[in-house]
Amino acid sequence: MTLSDRPRRLRTDGVRPLVSETRLEATDLVAPIFVDATTDERVPIETMPGHERVPLSDAVARAREVLETGVEAVMLFGIPGSKDERGTRAWAEDGVVQEATRRITAETDAYVITDVCLCEYTSHGHCGVLEHDARESPTLTVKNDETLDLLSKIAVSHAEAGADMVAPSSMTDGMVGAIRGGLDAAGFEGVPIMSYAAKYESAFYGPFRDAADGAPAFGDRRHYQMDPANAREALREVRLDVEQGADVLMVKPALAYLDIVRAVREEFEHPVAAYNVSGEYAMLHAAADRGWMDLETTAHESLLSMKRAGADLIVTYFAEDVAPGL
Ligand code: PBG
Ligand code: ZN
Repeated sequence: MTLSDRPRRLRTDGVRPLVSETRLEATDLVAPIFVDATTDERVPIETMPGHERVPLSDAVARAREVLETGVEAVMLFGIPGSKDERGTRAWAEDGVVQEATRRITAETDAYVITDVCLCEYTSHGHCGVLEHDARESPTLTVKNDETLDLLSKIAVSHAEAGADMVAPSSMTDGMVGAIRGGLDAAGFEGVPIMSYAAKYESAFYGPFRDAADGAPAFGDRRHYQMDPANAREALREVRLDVEQGADVLMVKPALAYLDIVRAVREEFEHPVAAYNVSGEYAMLHAAADRGWMDLETTAHESLLSMKRAGADLIVTYFAEDVAPGL
């Protein structure tokens, strides 16, 4: 048989590493951390095996655990001591994320990224200021423009606490511009914004809402998060964030949206982040628990696929598990 083109020649163990196109590295990964002001001890998150909500007193220890694996960046989510209609604890100087940020940046070299949103802090669980009649008419959920000012205050409070980067996730129109304006006015021109630029209204967030206690008390997030049916709209969303000064462009979720990761990669020059969300983590764990798939290899393959699709960095609950083997 004379086959001139035999791709299998380049699949032997010796040559594979030489011709491999994509590489996953520990420094590409960001590990989410949940800091909980309502507890004095670590609480396992049932829907996300291996993850815990940690008390403030353990925030530094938690960050150190991440650093030991070779992962250098963490993303902080806070569970506040109390919630109210406007989510005022989200921008409190002594808020849970602010305090955790202060401690982690003072005592470790971790690069600290903070989630900027209201849903964990509002009694209704939505990502912004509620419409008066939202409870009766769940199609009108949050007041966009009134929310902007609060998001800006949250971001500034995180920067004042020492956050290295802020990551707004509320899908409020104009959020990046409002936050950029707030940060610049407060003297934080150097703090970058990683925008959850194309964030879909996804059922894959289910386990996280349990973890962060941020499920909406009524209605859903379809009126501010994107329709999973739309791809062109993602480019429009991302373009708006670029125009407003976003530094890193995130697509979320990741696995079911790799076409969007690729499209953003091709259309823009900014770094692209993929958020390997809680449901993507939980489903591999669930299958692995039943002995149906191997956890480590499916996790690695998922993350590698995100890089192949064009992601430069990946926010993932697998960060600590995969990093030591990279
Ligand atoms: C809050 C927020 C969510 C996630 C990150 N920030 C939940 C949501 O929008 O409902 C999802 C993370 C995950 O599922 O891992 N705005
Ligand atoms: Zn939110």
